[in-house]
Amino acid sequence: MEYSKKILVTGGAGFIGSHLIDLLVKTYREYLIINFDKLTYAGNLENLKGVEQSPNYCFIKGDITDRAALTKVFEDYGVTDVIHLAAESHVDRSIDAPQSFVETNVLGTLQLLAVCRQFWEGQAGHLFYHVSTDEVYGTLGETGLFKETTAYDPRSPYSASKASSDHLVRAYFHTYELPVVISNCSNNYGPRQFPEKLIPLMINNIKHEKKLPVYGDGQYTRDWLWVEDHALAIDLIFHRGVVGQTYNIGGNNEWKNIDLVQRLCDICDELLGRPAGTSRQLISFVKDRPGHDRRYAIDSGKIQRELNWSPTVAPEIGLRMTAKWYLEQEEWLESITSGAYREYYEKQYGS
Ligand code: NAD
Ligand code: TYD
Repeated sequence: MEYSKKILVTGGAGFIGSHLIDLLVKTYREYLIINFDKLTYAGNLENLKGVEQSPNYCFIKGDITDRAALTKVFEDYGVTDVIHLAAESHVDRSIDAPQSFVETNVLGTLQLLAVCRQFWEGQAGHLFYHVSTDEVYGTLGETGLFKETTAYDPRSPYSASKASSDHLVRAYFHTYELPVVISNCSNNYGPRQFPEKLIPLMINNIKHEKKLPVYGDGQYTRDWLWVEDHALAIDLIFHRGVVGQTYNIGGNNEWKNIDLVQRLCDICDELLGRPAGTSRQLISFVKDRPGHDRRYAIDSGKIQRELNWSPTVAPEIGLRMTAKWYLEQEEWLESITSGAYREYYEKQYGS
């Protein structure tokens, strides 16, 4: 079959990437979706079960820092577009070991940009879509929202590496006229998120009656977006976004960490048939994260106005679906949390 687009999705075996691939493969049979992923600890081909047999999907194991591997994919498939999600994505890991964050997020993005330029220069009809985070904007006080025009002020090695990659993407747009678009999204949640992140970590610990480690005073605030709503936003921006522009994406769904953890306790108690209030007793305030950003919140007015996007899944429903999914995923969780992750967890939180 002659595909109208051949889209290279990097990091497609991860949390957001796998949901995006599900959406693209099923919605656009006329596109070939090429998943390019190194399969780090965070990448899992189980996440692609829903599409692995589809004729318009293929997987290539590879590292975005490997220029020769990228070149080969462009040659073999005639890549027309890139949606770039591959990254080291966990703030705590970036604090312990920043090197791989610079290698993948900065140098890997640079390699990808360079290959796009090499293959696409002087041609129309291509797009480099860079998926980024609201963490590049730094931290907010009690009020205010991040806008597309907010100055960058990253404060963790993770956000510094993502900010750096955003700058490189814009530099390629201005310097080489590479057609790019960027989106900066708030915290995602939903099935298949690696259980080092707040929501799945808490659900997993509630399930196993382990302590629930809340950093510092628990008053840190995040805006949470259902992962499939992020995938829908990426689809819209990919097709209708203006080249050279940035779009902020948020859930309009701010929670203080402690309130969120308590809500998860209550939902899980209900789902597990435990008496109300049981799991809240597991909450344990632990040493704070160094440089912990106090509050993130997004003004997503631009994507709402210009592309008519808004979140579709209400927080209460999304949290319930997420809790239910993790409580039922014995095998997925076991395969993912054994081995190297167990060592990481014990180092971070004790056993
Ligand atoms: P994730 O950690 O679940 O997945 C990352 C994927 O990238 C994994 O499959 C991993 O194997 C792959 N990868 C890592 N290094 C690679 C390399 N060198 N070459 C090829 N593949 C590599 O991450 P996620 O939460 O799905 O995030 C995806 C993207 O979205 C990231 O760029 C992240 O910065 C951004 N983002 C995430 C969130 C969030 O809440 N999770 C919010 C906003 C933006
Ligand atoms: P996380 O899921 O790591 O996302 P990010 O740091 O990218 O926002 O953390 C979300 C919030 O939860 C953040 O304020 C840190 C906090 N947190 C805890 O309190 N305990 C934990 O065990 C984890 C992983 C995070």
